[in-house]
Amino acid sequence: MKFLVLNGPNLNMLGIREPEIYGKKTYKDLVEMITAYALKSGLEVEVYQSNHEGDLVDKIQSAYGNYDGIVINPAAYTHTSIALLDALKAVGIPALEVHISDVGKREDFRKISFIRTACVKTVSGKGFDGYIEALEYLSKNIGEGKC
Ligand code: DQA
Repeated sequence: MKFLVLNGPNLNMLGIREPEIYGKKTYKDLVEMITAYALKSGLEVEVYQSNHEGDLVDKIQSAYGNYDGIVINPAAYTHTSIALLDALKAVGIPALEVHISDVGKREDFRKISFIRTACVKTVSGKGFDGYIEALEYLSKNIGEGKC
């Protein structure tokens, strides 16, 4: 099974940005953790990060016909982007929304997610482990024909 893990703006700054919220581990640590999990689980995973909304739209579109599932942490675009919502709906690939922090317990504007209706599930507030939970959930449920 092939998965695309997408990360939005400022996630390349993990380890530096607001460590009290996002922790001290870096973006490189995140990529290594996901890659190690993929290897162990026999999944093919591409991890991609961009600070640009259009790049993320392009990447979602290019997933069409090429990936079985998408794990997406759109970062701040979660709360603003109808373009990402439309892209996810356009390709129709099972997608799972991930947030490192618990967006439900932060500022009110972070409680809004435009992409949520195009996602089978949201994992929020579980740190880097949320990405693994997302890959586990998608591979299991896609494998069983449930999403
Ligand atoms: C985030 C939460 C968003 O509100 C924020 O803009 C981010 C990261 C998270 O992973 O907790 O950049 O998506």
